[in-house]
Amino acid sequence: MYQTKIAGLGKYVPENIVTNDDLSKKMDTNDEWITERTGIKERRHIKKGDGNSTAVMGVKAAKIALERAAISKDDIDLIVFATLSPDYYFPGCGVQVQEMLEIDTCPALDVRNQCSGFIYALSVADQFIKTGMYKNVLVIGSENHSGGLDFTTRGRSVSVIFGDGAGAAVLTRSDHNGQGILSTHLHSEGKHALELSLKGPSTNYWVPEIIADNPQGDDIPYYPYMNGQFVFKNAIQRFSEVINEGLQANGLDVDNIDMLIPHQANLRISQFVQHKFKLSDDQVYNNIQKYGNTTAASIPIALTEAWENGKIEDGDILVLAAFGSGFTWGSAIIRW
Ligand code: ACO
Repeated sequence: MYQTKIAGLGKYVPENIVTNDDLSKKMDTNDEWITERTGIKERRHIKKGDGNSTAVMGVKAAKIALERAAISKDDIDLIVFATLSPDYYFPGCGVQVQEMLEIDTCPALDVRNQCSGFIYALSVADQFIKTGMYKNVLVIGSENHSGGLDFTTRGRSVSVIFGDGAGAAVLTRSDHNGQGILSTHLHSEGKHALELSLKGPSTNYWVPEIIADNPQGDDIPYYPYMNGQFVFKNAIQRFSEVINEGLQANGLDVDNIDMLIPHQANLRISQFVQHKFKLSDDQVYNNIQKYGNTTAASIPIALTEAWENGKIEDGDILVLAAFGSGFTWGSAIIRW
């Protein structure tokens, strides 16, 4: 059995900064409400005409990760792309990345696990490397939320939270035993699927039917729905469980955590988890203040930024953890 290590990380966020005050010009909201409830001060939005899309941002992050890994794109054996906001209904973004990077015929697949998408993608990649089937896997998390949110007062409890961006990791077979991904832990609970969901356009909700059923446009299923407080309660419980599960599986405890990188769902969720595990500010990496919740991109963006800022050192124990729509949740324990 082989072990997987992260050989290179990259991130990309659009240049266009949208502050809470900018949003308050479009809808009835304000900086105080958003900051107090979520910790978010600003986020990035793709600007029409700037050439970005979910796949394009993924490629930008991937190019940086490949360069840092010093691995040629031609040596990539598999692409795993996590997103809830693909460029097309089908095909997925993985094959678009393959085409844009000019990689010949390696397999490419999309993971549809929302906020937990990157952890799921990491786990999929890890299994292929562990078994020896592939040596180098490109894992990407990327989201274009701003293209599909309701920026009127009707959508304010959801649209203020999300931002656009991408992160990528190049995974490779580890030469050093004990370095790399120690374990991943995945869960889901489909009975809560619609508590955080976007119903259409889909086979159940095609655009002409939506318009026919909602001539006044009052009940629009092609904007996300979130039962915020229910999501919050489940998130803090599942984050804690899956972090403990990961630690226990490796004979570790909280004192061994050098850095926790939680999915950037909401600063209050991260702080709850931090206090529960009695971690110091230096042991938890948060950047939701600058980027909002970028769903599948949030962990690779935060991980890349933490590494760029010198917060991660050789031998550190990292805990990545996520919870999101599905409900789905997961963790990854990594020795850097
Ligand atoms: N600006 C101003 N007022 C607002 C806004 C806004 N952007 N959004 C909602 N309000 C109003 C509501 O209309 C409501 O007004 P009312 O009392 O007059 O009816 C009031 O604020 C309270 O609304 P709630 O939805 O009850 O607000 P809550 O305190 O629950 O906060 C929030 C909402 C931030 C979404 C919270 O529920 C939460 O943090 N949930 C966790 C979910 C989460 O973090 N999701 C992130 C994505 S999912 C994931 O990644 C796991």
